[in-house]
Amino acid sequence: MNQLSPSTVPAHVAIIMDGNGRWANARGLPRAMGHRKGVEAVREAVRTAADCGISYLTLFAFSSENWNRPQSEVSDLMGLLKTFIRRDLAVLHKQNVRIRIIGDKTNLSGDILPLLLEAEETTRANTGITLVIAFNYGARDEIARAMRALAVDVAAGRLTPGEITPERIAAGLDTADIPDPDLIIRTSGEERLSNFLLWQGAYAELMFVPEFWPDFSRDTFLSALSRYAMRERRFGGLQPAATLAVGS
Ligand code: IPE
Ligand code: IPE
Ligand code: MG
Repeated sequence: MNQLSPSTVPAHVAIIMDGNGRWANARGLPRAMGHRKGVEAVREAVRTAADCGISYLTLFAFSSENWNRPQSEVSDLMGLLKTFIRRDLAVLHKQNVRIRIIGDKTNLSGDILPLLLEAEETTRANTGITLVIAFNYGARDEIARAMRALAVDVAAGRLTPGEITPERIAAGLDTADIPDPDLIIRTSGEERLSNFLLWQGAYAELMFVPEFWPDFSRDTFLSALSRYAMRERRFGGLQPAATLAVGS
């Protein structure tokens, strides 16, 4: 049941997976249970995105500000990410999924970094959907890291300040070879970006859905894609002539 035409399917969908804690609270369960249930929603979202012909799916898994949560919750989330990669990497690889990690990879403790690198390395040559996991990711941090690298080039005389263009800045971001998101979905009814893809999302369509992340089903995703197909994107220009001609 998919009436989406290939021309209206977004190439890149990015999702702020929010509301795990509230999903659990509403059931009298510990927050950790919400996160665990959220992993199941991740699996379903990847399958749905691949079935719909989406080329890139970015999932906001852990923000650079999420370290401010209680230590026990941070370690629950780290544990879940590690378990997800250990359990699901082989399946994702078999499904031809290419995994990319964005976010700050420095100063990650223990065995998390080797696992992230293994996921990227194992699936590097895959040609199916690219699953971008935003982990220890904050857009301001990402932009600051890119700026520092450009500043080093300027200081070394490799670049003049006048050569710092939007294209060069984009090329220094973690998403350098990933197209900008066409659609950013946030679950749980919150309507903010929380430091997610601030540069790349300049012209993204934003969609806020009431479901908590663990309840984000295939149907929820398909209905978001149908609503996206009705949106008119102008990128600062005017309505396409074809649209104007209709009825005139
Ligand atoms: C999203 O759910 C998961 C992460 C931010 C890692 P939350 O944990 O933010 O759940 P709420 O927003 O407190 O309900
Ligand atoms: C954004 O959700 C981060 C992730 C989904 C990983 P938060 O729950 O951390 O955002 P705020 O704090 O409500 O803005
Ligand atoms: Mg939240």
